[in-house]
Order: sequence, then structure tokens, then C-alpha cells
Amino acid sequence: MLTKSKAISRLQELSEIITKSREAYFNLNQSDITDQEYDQNISEFQKLLSIYPELEDQYSILDKVGATPNSRFKKVKHLTPMYSLSNAFNNEDIFNFLKQIGSFLDLSESENIDLIFEPKIDGLSLSLIYKNGILFQALTRGDGHIGEDVTENARLIPDVPISIPIKIDTLEIRGEVYFPNSTFSELNEKLEKTGRKTFSNPRNAASGTLRQFKSNKNRNKNLCFFAYSIGNATHQLADSQEMLLKVFNDLGFKTNDISKVFTGVEELLQYYEKVFSMRTELDYDIDGIVYKVNNFSLQQRLGFRSSSPRWAIAHKFPAELSITIIEDIEIQIGRTGTLSPVAKLKPVNIGGVIVSSATLHNRDFIMGLDNKGNKIRDGADIRKGDWVTVYRAGDVIPKIKDVDISKRNSTSKSFVFPDLCPSCGNEVKIDKMDSAIRCYNSQNCDAQVIAGLKHFVSKKAFNIDGLGGRIIEEFYQKNLIQQPADFFRLESKSKNGSNLIEFLGKGWGEKSLKNLLHSIEKAKLIKLDRFLFSLGIRHIGENASQILAGYFGSWDDFYNAIKAGIAKNDGQFLFEIEGIGQLMVTSLIGFFSDFKEREKLEDLLNYVKIEKFIKLSKLETAITDKKLVLTGTFNAFSRAELKSICERAGAKVLTSVSNNVDFLVVGQAPGSKVKKAGELGIKQVNEEEFKVLIDYNL
Ligand code: IVH
Repeated sequence: MLTKSKAISRLQELSEIITKSREAYFNLNQSDITDQEYDQNISEFQKLLSIYPELEDQYSILDKVGATPNSRFKKVKHLTPMYSLSNAFNNEDIFNFLKQIGSFLDLSESENIDLIFEPKIDGLSLSLIYKNGILFQALTRGDGHIGEDVTENARLIPDVPISIPIKIDTLEIRGEVYFPNSTFSELNEKLEKTGRKTFSNPRNAASGTLRQFKSNKNRNKNLCFFAYSIGNATHQLADSQEMLLKVFNDLGFKTNDISKVFTGVEELLQYYEKVFSMRTELDYDIDGIVYKVNNFSLQQRLGFRSSSPRWAIAHKFPAELSITIIEDIEIQIGRTGTLSPVAKLKPVNIGGVIVSSATLHNRDFIMGLDNKGNKIRDGADIRKGDWVTVYRAGDVIPKIKDVDISKRNSTSKSFVFPDLCPSCGNEVKIDKMDSAIRCYNSQNCDAQVIAGLKHFVSKKAFNIDGLGGRIIEEFYQKNLIQQPADFFRLESKSKNGSNLIEFLGKGWGEKSLKNLLHSIEKAKLIKLDRFLFSLGIRHIGENASQILAGYFGSWDDFYNAIKAGIAKNDGQFLFEIEGIGQLMVTSLIGFFSDFKEREKLEDLLNYVKIEKFIKLSKLETAITDKKLVLTGTFNAFSRAELKSICERAGAKVLTSVSNNVDFLVVGQAPGSKVKKAGELGIKQVNEEEFKVLIDYNL
């Protein structure tokens, strides 16, 4: 019989062996044990912990080996963010994509750009970091900035080489992990036979396998991997995507053989149709096609928007449709008070996902009108009890395509949109700006306050693990959390977790509370853009938060400027920022002038530490940290490209000339800004001089 003390001493021994062999392996002076021995040690380690789970915390080395999904994998920051792709749903979107590229690069109409066509694999992206040719770390995408360390599981995937023949310092290869359709049903049969939960589709099977606590050799063996891009590399391997895919093959990776380069868009779109019609014959699911600019120096010039590249787009396949019945129509109240109608559906399977609700957008949509007042669905309204066609496009919320009024019951009644807020009972009003119906009782409407708190802890804001919607509602109802700062006071309400546990009652254990408090503690350090976003100011979304953070750099600079602006009753300094418009300025000033909002904010500031905004891949040049204004047109760049170059170099582009501007960049046919700059004695540079300033050598 294995006693606890024996288990402890063996765990200690094993953890030392594992750590040592890991270090030896990762530091590349080669491990003295074989892969098999290493795996045996890991499984013995896991077995001991499954007998004495209370020892898990103490032997957290397993976090590196992989744990149950979400919280227990080690979180690792990506070397460069893992971006997502913007979507196109029809040919027109593709023409627009090309037009935008053309105008960004200032191309003439006749100039064609080579695009590479790659299937969009419906799996999960994985980043593989090789150090001196040896697989060092494998990370999931996570939120794009921080991923989960799934190295141990990834090492068991046959398509993932443990070593590659290029021994450069760092080479990060990204691609898609998928579970082939041919073995998917086998897996589910096996799971079913042994009484375990089956997976609803191959994507979930891939995700579940890659993120399982105990590496399962047999199951991991079924996973496949296609390489499609480079994240970070100390050497450039290719000058085009086409060439890169060949290099990947030489390194021992699989790449997708449907990939192909096109010069003309017509042929590209024909190929799209062809691949669409043969997609069911493939051994992997694809949910669209990715088009990428083939040439890397053009990719570099095009650069990135806040979360997606300008040089690529995903041409999604048409959404799958299903028919079901509306069981009820509910009104949800959002963070900004908008009343959003939601159809509660009889659950229906759409392309492998069970859907039980769909958005009804707004009152007009229910009445059969679009946002310009034109008829949609031949003017048919939507009612409780109606049969409807529902679709899902990508990850978006399911939508209603049509209603079958021939199946409507003669007793059905049209839906009456409420005049009063269903949460606080205040009268609702139509917002003239966006025709939304809104409850304006923002501070005292429970639904809005709760939605704001949910937003505050959400992934792109404070990202606090373990605080789902229901928990926030529970905390709010129990008067534990009323405003953001309360999250950080939770700890003081519990003494070793015990008082709070008693108060919370059913469903809360010491461990779950400890984990929650730990996540809250960790969240106290936050980046400026996330912090701004977390405040839930109307019209200040992710993008605007990033622009503001990039412009002001630190919370103090931002907050002092806002306070000074409010004192002088002058929002001009905000208008000067490229990308910040009228609605945003009004909303920002409104928020920071509101006494109650300020009070909550000041309270919150006592608990958090806001990191300075660090620009991605900032290139140090003579314009870094300088303020510039552009005027006229340029030979080598479009306005958009010039702006993007300045931002990459960490310069601020303002819209008007004033005393605090460092340079005026003067193109052809400049405007009145030249005169103003002359009067103020501001330095002026022409296009050629500007190229020297930015070390332009593309
Ligand atoms: S390129 C910066 N290529 O689609 C662009 N992505 O929404 C990075 N995906 O998270 C992506 N097949 O998981 C690229 N051939 C392909 C892809 C692909 C599937 C996934 C990937 C990414 C998502 C983008």
C-alpha cells in the first residue's frame, strides 16, 4: 500500500528528475533519459497526484505538463500577438479588400497583387517555438496575447517535429491543429462505449485533446497539424508565403496542398467555388478560405490593424441554416442600457453547434423593417411561436434569416416592445443617434450595473478567471459587489476564506474561493488600453482604447489631460487624435464629468496598478515619440500607409498644426497647414527628408 508519506517522497524525487530532464532538454545539452522514460515519469507523477489530489498545489510542476482546461495550464505571453483575421462573406467584400490594399499601397488600377489561397482549417491555432532547432514550447492562441502552455500534449502530435534542421536561436512556427474526420467517429464510439462524454464536432475533439490534463498518447496521436505562418524568427526564411510553405515542408511540417497562388481575382474566386463544393470530401473541416498577399515585403508595408492584418482576409463559407420554433421573446438590457430582444429557441443543431437563442436585433427588426425603415422578410413580423430559419456565421451570435408565416397559429399576437425598462421600470426612450431603445437610468438600473460589472471582468478588460455571469449576479444580489472596486475588496470580506464561504453558502468551496481571490489579485496589474476599455464608456471600444492608450502612453497623462480639459471645458485635445471622433469625445467628457462615475473610478484606482502602454514592435527612429501632422499627397505612400508607418515608429499623428507639433510632413499640393506651421516656426520636412527620418529602405 502506497502511504501518503511514501507518495510525497516519490513525488519529490520525480519532480526533480522531470525538472532536470526538462531543463537539460530545453537548454539543449540533451537529456540523459529517453522520451519513453520521460513520459513514464510524467504518468507516474500524474498517477500519484490522482491518488493524493491534495498534493497538487504543492507539486505544481504539473501545470507545465498540462492540466484541466482554462485555469491550470501555465499562461505564457506570446512573443508576438496571435492576430485573427477579418472576414468576408461575399465577392464584394473581397473586391473591397483588394481595393483597400490598392489604396493603402497607392497602386494604380492595373497593378495586380499576387494572392495565396489557403483553406481556413476549422481547428485551433498553435504556436510552436523552436530554440536552436529543438521544440521548446507549444502555446495555444488564448486571448491572442497570452496563450496556454500545451507543450507536453503537442509533443505527442505526429505532425509536430521535435527537432528541425534549422538551428537558429528562435523560430516560431504557427499553424492549425485539427482532428481528422476519419478518426473522429471512432473516437466518439470509444468514448461512448466507456460511458464518457462524446465531442460534438472534430474541432471540440481537437481542442479537448490538446488541452487535456493527462496527455493521452493514443488520442494525441490522432491530432494533425498544418503549418501556415511564422510568428517570430531570428532569421528570415523566405520572401513570400508560397516559398515559406515550401520551407516548412523541408523542415518536416505538413502544409495544405490545396494552397495556390493567383494573380487575377476571377480565377481566385472560381477556385473558391471549386473548393467549396469539394469541402465535404476533405478529411478536415474548413469554414472558409484565407487569402493572403503573397509577397512578404508588401505584407510588411500593409501591417496590422488593432487585431487583424491588412494583408489577409478570411472568405467565409455561407452559413448553415436550420429551422426551429421561437419559444419565447426576451428583452436583455446591455451595459449601455440598450434593450435587445432575444429569441429563445427550441434547441437546434446548426453545423455541429446546439443553438438555443438568436438575436432579434431591435424593435424594427421584429416588425420586419431594416435600419433605414425598408421592409425585410416582405414585411413579416416575428412572434412567439413562429417557425424561423436560423443561421450562424462564424463565431457570431446566431441570427434569424426568415420566418414562415404560413405555419403561424391564428391566435398568435404580435410582439409588443416594452415602454418601461423590464429591470428598473424606468421609461425607455429611442436614441436618435442609433435608433436603439434605451433605458437611461444607467446608475440605478440593476441590469445595466450587472452588465457593466460583467464587462469589467471580461476577457478583453480585467480578464478575471472564475467570474462567470451567474456568479456576478449572485454577488450583486447578495450585495457583495456593487461597483468595480468591490471585486478587490472581496478578500477583506473573508478571513482565510471562511467568513465569505459561510456567507456564500452552497456551491462555494474553500478551493474555488481561493482560486477566485488569486485571479482577482493577479488582475490588479493591468495594461492601460485594457483599463480604459474596462470602464465601459460608451463608444470607447477596444480600438478606441488602444488609440487613446497609444497616444497618452500612461494613465496619469491621460487622466490629467482629461481633468484639465474638463476644467477648461475644452475637448479639443481629444479631437486632435487621429481615429477619435465626435461621439467618442462627447462620451469621454460625459463619463469623466459625471460625479458618480468619478467617485467609482477614484475608488477603483486605489486598488489597481496601470501599466504604461507599450507599443508593439516599436521601431526606434528619429520620429519616435514625436508629434507629426501630414499635409498634401505623397509619391511613395498613401495617407493610410504613412500613418501606419508613423504609428509603428511610435510617433503621434495629429490632425491639426499647433504649438506642440514637432514636424509637419509636407507632400504635394499641401494645404494651409504649411502657412500655419511657418508662423509657429514648426519644422517642415518633405517626403524625401521624411524617408531619411524613418530609415525607410523597403
Ligand atoms: S493566418 C495573422 N492561415 O483562422 C493571420 N489562419 O481568424 C493569422 N486559420 O486564429 C492567421 N487556417 O486559427 C491563417 N491557413 C490559415 C488558417 C488560419 C485556419 C485560423 C487560425 C486563426 C484564425 C483567424
